[in-house]
Amino acid sequence: MKIVEKHALWLRLVHWFNVPLTLLMIWSGVLIYWANGVYPGFFPKAFYRTLDLQQKLAEGMAMHSLIAWLLIVNGIIYLCLLAASGHWREIFPNRKTPAQVVPTLLADLGLIEMPNTGDKFNAMQRLAYTGAIGLGVVAVLSGFAIYKPVQLEWLTDCFAGYEGARLTHFICMLGLSGFIAVHLVQVVRAGWNNFRAMVAGFEVEDER
Ligand code: HEM
Repeated sequence: MKIVEKHALWLRLVHWFNVPLTLLMIWSGVLIYWANGVYPGFFPKAFYRTLDLQQKLAEGMAMHSLIAWLLIVNGIIYLCLLAASGHWREIFPNRKTPAQVVPTLLADLGLIEMPNTGDKFNAMQRLAYTGAIGLGVVAVLSGFAIYKPVQLEWLTDCFAGYEGARLTHFICMLGLSGFIAVHLVQVVRAGWNNFRAMVAGFEVEDER
């Protein structure tokens, strides 16, 4: 057995700081969403009753605005270190990615062996992680467009106006929730060694 370094300390710190913040952001967003009667009923009423989400607009707004700044700072640190460390080469899709999408999906479904490309992340991971980063950026921009639609009119116009920004913001939340659900399933499937590497930084490999 040998111990192999997998994830840098900065990456683990940023990732784990991001987890509770993202969940709190979605939670407080649902509080705001529910409090405003103009939104169509996307979630069934029982959802709000069971989770006791009613009449919490002020609480939702306060939490959403505070956590947003922490997430933005964490996100900027991540993007800067992604660029400076060269880790972007491991996470962004590259020339090999399109050809590997179907084999990787089939392997994820257990139909064939996972193609060994020697890369840290496979094609679907690259697409999913880059997609999550992209959704995060668009969520922040559309959030600012809703927050200051007069002062940042040019930004709101980029989303085809206030309603467009609101819809975009909501779609980003759904996309990120979908990413988190699939991410968690894949983390459980990948097993303990893979999860521990995101906590401790190293993976244990069998020596051949
Ligand atoms: C309890 C919840 C979570 C767990 C247990 C978890 C676990 C992990 C693990 C084990 C990896 C490494 C994957 C690998 O090496 O194959 C990873 C990477 C990653 N996770 Fe999570 N994660 C969680 C929540 C989240 C959330 C909420 C987000 C963002 C919305 C997120 C975004 C990412 C990204 C972008 C990467 C790739 C990081 C990089 O290498 O730059 N994760 N996660």
